[in-house]
Amino acid sequence: MVIVFKKLGAYMSYENIIVEKSDGIITVSLNRPDALNALNDQLMDELLLEVDNYEKDESLRCMILTGSEKAFAAGADIKQMQPKTYMDVYKEDFITRNWERVASCRKPIIAAVSGYALGGGCELAMMCDFILASENAKFGQPEINLGVSPGAGGSQRLTRFIGKSKSMDMCLTGRMMDADEAERSGLVSRVFSSENFLNDVMEVAKAISDKSMIATMMTKEMVNRSYETTLSEGIRFERRLFHSMFATEDKKEGMSAFIEKRKADFKDK
Ligand code: CAA
Repeated sequence: MVIVFKKLGAYMSYENIIVEKSDGIITVSLNRPDALNALNDQLMDELLLEVDNYEKDESLRCMILTGSEKAFAAGADIKQMQPKTYMDVYKEDFITRNWERVASCRKPIIAAVSGYALGGGCELAMMCDFILASENAKFGQPEINLGVSPGAGGSQRLTRFIGKSKSMDMCLTGRMMDADEAERSGLVSRVFSSENFLNDVMEVAKAISDKSMIATMMTKEMVNRSYETTLSEGIRFERRLFHSMFATEDKKEGMSAFIEKRKADFKDK
């Protein structure tokens, strides 16, 4: 089924996301305005394809994943989930089949959150490398209100971001937290005013896309490793990658540019 869709995807324009590319930055906007960008299967298939394309395309250096001003995404599509049985979700490998691709992408992805990021929306944002929030952003894991739990990693990733006490509070009450609380808690890295939000996010993406892609990818790998291993193994992993970067032309260029007081011109080599 995925293969058929991939073939179609090469020729069809997307129905649930909007993709824009400029100056090496790809912006993917979730686009189901009538459903507050609820994440259905088709949208997640389209997003998976676009992450594949982004990873392959060497001209693209940073992805911004965003929604509308009102909603990043109000969760997995409840109307699509409502009739599903245990056997349905088990057989189709619901979530696992097409959601985690964002988390496994080797190149940087910034989540730019305006409005609601609830349930699967909050989980999708947390799969990105970091979250930039507009001051009107609202985060939550309200699945408990539907008689279920977070299902796209929320119980694990949210707890790592904000700690057990706050995560329990969010997951058990289903309440929302605003952008200020999310920044204080470590869920988002920065909050920007709503007026200029996407321009401010674009500046962050540009700062990332100016760097050596090799150093960017390796740094991303190191930070992610810190979630999966002990401190001493993580430091050993960091040291190995750090040493390996001394073999790159970009290392020579970056350090020479500093000494020669000029801007580095990285070639990703
Ligand atoms: N799935 C499907 N449709 C959704 C949706 C969702 N998650 N969230 C909103 N919509 C739809 C509404 O049904 C409504 O459609 P209709 O006009 O056809 O009725 C439309 O979007 C607008 O929504 P509201 O009228 O409810 O808008 P509001 O401004 O009054 O409220 C809201 C906004 C508080 C976000 C409310 O829509 C809401 O509570 N949404 C559900 C949030 C939620 O429970 N998310 C978790 C989903 S489960 C999950 O994500 C599982 C997982 O871990 C993977």
